[in-house]
Amino acid sequence: MSPTTAFRTAIVPAAGLGTRFLPTTKSVPKELLPVVDTPAIELVAAEAAEAGAERLVIVTSPEKSSVAGHFQSRPDLEQTLADRGKTALLEKVRRAPGLLQAEVAIQEQALGLGHAVACARPNLTEADDAVAVLLPDDLVLPTGALTAMARVRERFGGSVLCAFDIPREQISAYGVFDVDPTDTDDVLRVKGMVEKPAPEAAPSTFAAAGRYLLDRAVFDALDRITPGAGGELQLTDAVALLIEEGHPVHVVVHRGGRHDLGNPGGFLRAAVDFALENPEYGPELREWLSQRLSDAAR
Ligand code: G1P
Repeated sequence: MSPTTAFRTAIVPAAGLGTRFLPTTKSVPKELLPVVDTPAIELVAAEAAEAGAERLVIVTSPEKSSVAGHFQSRPDLEQTLADRGKTALLEKVRRAPGLLQAEVAIQEQALGLGHAVACARPNLTEADDAVAVLLPDDLVLPTGALTAMARVRERFGGSVLCAFDIPREQISAYGVFDVDPTDTDDVLRVKGMVEKPAPEAAPSTFAAAGRYLLDRAVFDALDRITPGAGGELQLTDAVALLIEEGHPVHVVVHRGGRHDLGNPGGFLRAAVDFALENPEYGPELREWLSQRLSDAAR
């Protein structure tokens, strides 16, 4: 799918403490942990750029400036690699700064996802009628979900989110949609949204999966919400408020894969998945893994 003009700015909330990745995250932001050789946040930035984003607003804490550093160029390192004829590595080093223009918005206190997104408001320009929000813990595969969501915004206006159909017993980890069908398969109209409901109270099994295309109106809604699930200012509650006020909200149900990079188990799965597809490391890893698994089965 070709990129859209529906949004120019992508917001990536990256201020979290990464508690599930301690002790590593004492000094290394989890967004910089490598999926094979590439930091997770570069994968997410590449997805945003592919969908048409030109600017990336990284919402981060004062202690995590190295996250934005990944999007700055390193002339010294580039020169060294060029002098040594390491052109493939040179390309890898140049990729992140070349994807889009990265900026930082500081979230001083971890008050919730809604608060993090609101911290990006001063970075917006008049041209930003809508913004994309990508949670760097979620890898949505194959890429292209944002482009499909932009098409739905072109048709219905308002805001469009990405949904996954999740087993009901896992649903209370997510923001969950109350939906009606439309005339298009896998495009649903949202009539309510609730953050982390108990399984029996969940209005459906369709859950928010880290990709949002939000009308600018969300920023006014974010100003009006109060702490919700977990005592945090929830993006879900701002979306629910927009719906209550008659703002159109739809979801595109994504039928592909997903990796949750927010915990070591999910991160390892993503790393193995990407490594198996990698021409440099894939074949050897496959052989070692099959041997390892057959040894373990004995
Ligand atoms: C956040 C959102 C939730 C969404 C989830 C997707 O929750 O609040 O609505 O479903 O991301 O990964 P978190 O995982 O930060 O608790």
